[in-house]
Amino acid sequence: MDHQNHLQDPANRMVALSNSAATYLRFFWAGVAKSGQTGAIVPSQRFLIARMIAPIPETYRGRIIELGAGTGALTLRLAAKCPEARILACEINPVLARDHRCNLAGAGLSRRVELFTGSAERLLSELAQTRAEKPDFIISGIPLANLGETKALALIDSICQALGEGGMYIQFQHSLLDRKKVKTCFPNLRTVPVFLNFPPAVVYYALKQERVPPGA
Ligand SMILES: C[S@@+](CC[C@H](N)C(=O)[O-])C[C@H]1O[C@@H](n2cnc3c(N)ncnc32)[C@H](O)[C@@H]1O
Repeated sequence: MDHQNHLQDPANRMVALSNSAATYLRFFWAGVAKSGQTGAIVPSQRFLIARMIAPIPETYRGRIIELGAGTGALTLRLAAKCPEARILACEINPVLARDHRCNLAGAGLSRRVELFTGSAERLLSELAQTRAEKPDFIISGIPLANLGETKALALIDSICQALGEGGMYIQFQHSLLDRKKVKTCFPNLRTVPVFLNFPPAVVYYALKQERVPPGA
């Protein structure tokens, strides 16, 4: 039975609703108890998610990495938009990662979307040691402003190294404070406000410029 038919049954709908309420509550609790790490008390909402995934073509067949995936609000929409993409999501908080995994299973996406439970820093350093294909898109909801300058700059640098040439790093924040930090690695940066989200956000679109060989 596919996900849509499964939800036609009222009993299954009740179970799905109570699961999603519980997921929301656990996210809220993470936002209170680990506020610096979580950076929000509710998952991103649809207008912000739509802005975050807008540059990725529906026909994209390559790899997308999502850092700070929370309970999967963005991941599920991304997977629905880009059915041929291979998505690798990463979440540091094991409680949120467990909910993320359940949400993937509920949407029948467990095989297409891979979830790494651990820090983005660890994932990126593991990827750097392999010859894995570099993604054209890295999406992140990690609250950079709460990391502190040194850690934020190191993370942005690892993101830049992990991204394919000409690729795009898409980050949302709740302020413009990190603009300068992102610009150190990504001079080609555009920011767009999203007011229809709680709290309002700013999306950073950062392009990794192709390196021009010296003398070219
Ligand atoms: C603002 S929430 C965004 C969650 C989700 N992407 C959304 O849009 O609803 C930020 C998420 O980043 C995770 N996070 C924070 N630091 C991280 C790190 N160093 N590595 C991986 N995830 C991290 C938090 O646990 C939290 O789930």
